[in-house]
Amino acid sequence: MSPLRVPLLTILVRMALCQYYDYEPYIGSGPSAPNCDPECECPINFPSAMYCDDRNLKRVPIVPSGIMYLYLQNNQIEEIKAGVFDNVTTGLRWLVLDHNQITNAKVAKGTIDKLTGLEKLFFSYNNLTEPVIPPSKHLDELKIMNNKLSKFPSGLLTDKENLTAINLQYNQLTSDAIAGAFKGPKKLLSLDVSHNKLKKLPAGVPSSLEILYADYNDIDSIGAGYLNKLPALQYLRMSHNKLVDGGIPSGAFNVSSLVELDLSFNKLQSIPEINEQLEQLYLQANEINKIDLASFCKITGPLNYSRLKHLRLDANNVTHSNMPHDSANCLRQASDIMFE
Ligand SMILES: *[C@@H]1O[C@H](CO)[C@@H](O)[C@H](O)[C@H]1NC(C)=O
Ligand SMILES: *[C@@H]1O[C@H](CO)[C@@H](O)[C@H](O)[C@H]1NC(C)=O
Ligand SMILES: *[C@@H]1O[C@H](CO)[C@@H](O)[C@H](O)[C@H]1NC(C)=O
Ligand SMILES: *[C@@H]1O[C@H](CO)[C@@H](O)[C@H](O)[C@H]1NC(C)=O
Ligand SMILES: *[C@@H]1O[C@H](CO)[C@@H](O)[C@H](O)[C@H]1NC(C)=O
Ligand SMILES: *[C@@H]1O[C@H](CO)[C@@H](O)[C@H](O)[C@H]1NC(C)=O
Repeated sequence: MSPLRVPLLTILVRMALCQYYDYEPYIGSGPSAPNCDPECECPINFPSAMYCDDRNLKRVPIVPSGIMYLYLQNNQIEEIKAGVFDNVTTGLRWLVLDHNQITNAKVAKGTIDKLTGLEKLFFSYNNLTEPVIPPSKHLDELKIMNNKLSKFPSGLLTDKENLTAINLQYNQLTSDAIAGAFKGPKKLLSLDVSHNKLKKLPAGVPSSLEILYADYNDIDSIGAGYLNKLPALQYLRMSHNKLVDGGIPSGAFNVSSLVELDLSFNKLQSIPEINEQLEQLYLQANEINKIDLASFCKITGPLNYSRLKHLRLDANNVTHSNMPHDSANCLRQASDIMFE
């Protein structure tokens, strides 16, 4: 490999990481600010950032005043000792702790519970059994994926008026554990609780929600009127659950905001009634054995037809021959119906 190609490869890898993490790892090195921990870098031309990522650290170093963006991902940190954030309690905005081994018992009092200015907390791939939430009212993004969360006490997020995204996939949360967890954040747009142990969709979520992902849980039913309380919801994913026909009350998906509905890999035997506005419907790998146009169109006419564009029915018990002969008018926009 020529010397020129090494940095290019490094940059490409960094770019890929960036996309995944939504934050930019520090590239290159230069003089570090004098009060910076010697194991980290605090570039003098970007004095609000401290880079301590990928260094085999076992502890969180003392953070000097003035730091707003702190990167600690990819270490072996097990513990956050009292005092490390004392000089940045109001100023710290981003705290990135992904890929460490932090447990709740080792997050000392007087650390994260003192951060009143935090906007982003990234705590994925650690050993937390319950969330660690800062008192900051400015929090806008919370990611605690791939931990061991089995609790999410009610009321932790009540004052987070600017919180827009919560990612909790790959934990051990049950429906009881999250009852009341999401009350409060009035601007919440996106909630991902995939790969948990939920038996139903999360209760009490804010009406601002646009994206709800609950794939890979144990959900067998949906409450009548659940979606009527979410008038902005556009994307709902519930693939790889245990949904059966009897668990879907009439009109459950009859909401005009929904654009995409993923019910693939469940146990449905018929196609649920959907609203005319829905554009993407994923039903592959169910047990569907009939197609009824009433699932898509109550009335068919010049202005009354389904907006469905993509419909997946592969890995079910239906073929093209099950399509009602008068379906062309109702499903006039469905350019892509997959049977296999
Ligand atoms: C923390 O703040 C105190 C008081 O301003 C200062 O004396 C000390 O040097 C600071 N420590 C760091 C690591 O910045
Ligand atoms: C964190 O979890 C991993 C995987 O379960 C385990 O191997 C490791 O020992 C745990 N570390 C701590 C500090 O609990
Ligand atoms: C919430 O966001 C708005 C708009 O960015 C901002 O004006 C307001 O100060 C924020 N509130 C808090 C508590 O951060
Ligand atoms: C679907 O919703 C529309 C508009 O709210 C309503 O008129 C219609 O009766 C509903 N259909 C069913 C089956 O719930
Ligand atoms: C049919 O379309 C008209 C015009 O858009 C609308 O007013 C009416 O509510 C539609 N009927 C149904 C059952 O959707
Ligand atoms: C598919 O349909 C056939 C014929 O109607 C039936 O014998 C079979 O049990 C069905 N399979 C499933 C998985 O429903």
